[in-house]
Amino acid sequence: MKDKSLISITDITKEDYKTILDLAEKFEKKPKQKILENYVMASLFFEPSTRTRLSFESAASQLGAKIVGFTDASSSSVKKGETLKDTIMMVSNYADIIVMRHPKEGSSRYASEVSSVPVLNAGDGANQHPTQCLLDLYSIRKTQGTLDNLHVAFIGDLKYGRTVHSLVTALTNFNTTFHLVSPIELKLPSSVKRFIKEKNLDYYQYTELDEVIPKVDILYMTRIQQERFSDPLEYEKVKNSYVLRNSMLDDSKPNLRVLHPLPRVNEITEDVDSNPKAYYFTQALNGVYVRQALLALTLGVK
Ligand code: CP
Repeated sequence: MKDKSLISITDITKEDYKTILDLAEKFEKKPKQKILENYVMASLFFEPSTRTRLSFESAASQLGAKIVGFTDASSSSVKKGETLKDTIMMVSNYADIIVMRHPKEGSSRYASEVSSVPVLNAGDGANQHPTQCLLDLYSIRKTQGTLDNLHVAFIGDLKYGRTVHSLVTALTNFNTTFHLVSPIELKLPSSVKRFIKEKNLDYYQYTELDEVIPKVDILYMTRIQQERFSDPLEYEKVKNSYVLRNSMLDDSKPNLRVLHPLPRVNEITEDVDSNPKAYYFTQALNGVYVRQALLALTLGVK
């Protein structure tokens, strides 16, 4: 993985997942190690973020790296009309690694093609979010003791949800049974379903949430993403499709854990937060250790 960009979860192998997750476990035990003191990470966020940006920056700073970048492209020369290509070429002169989030699908792949340093995709439009996927895998392995043979439900915006696209694709390596819960308008795209079909895995599609909960090991809730809809009326039709309340978990399996990439809007009520099956805040914390592992492996530092 040294010097390689990570743009899609398909850029790395099942063996790479294990390498990253195993190293992340070591960072969880000892997150403050000054192994990246001689490195600079650029953090370029053309789209809002709390968890991905701050966990990358926390990961890098706990390892001693310096951080440059912006949280709002309008404070950069993009505002004056500078192209993404020129921006990336410049930044790759200033940093050893670039973490980039951008609203356009394909932008991170393009950035990696013009950059002289590795690019880690922190989310490109509705396409991919591979570093989130790795922290999701870490969270599943940690809570279930395995990644193999699980029943995983994905709920909400399966059409535009980039975290869903990455995680479904990754889980096809682990004999997962998929339970896909969404409004008709927001079904999982066939380009992602293709990965399930190629492995001959079972998937079931639903429009109602209740019947799925007792069947699964992981409930992966997602937000219906207003920002991805071109027609506000279409968003209004589906915006409150699924709301998980604490009482709905009464008949769930003992090992069930509720995950959510966050932010949530109203799809998980706050009474779920104190249920031991709610794992989403710890899931976000796991992002620090997984991103430390990714930075160390990509920069080739042990
Ligand atoms: N999970 C996630 O991508 O959260 P942010 O948008 O806050 O980075």
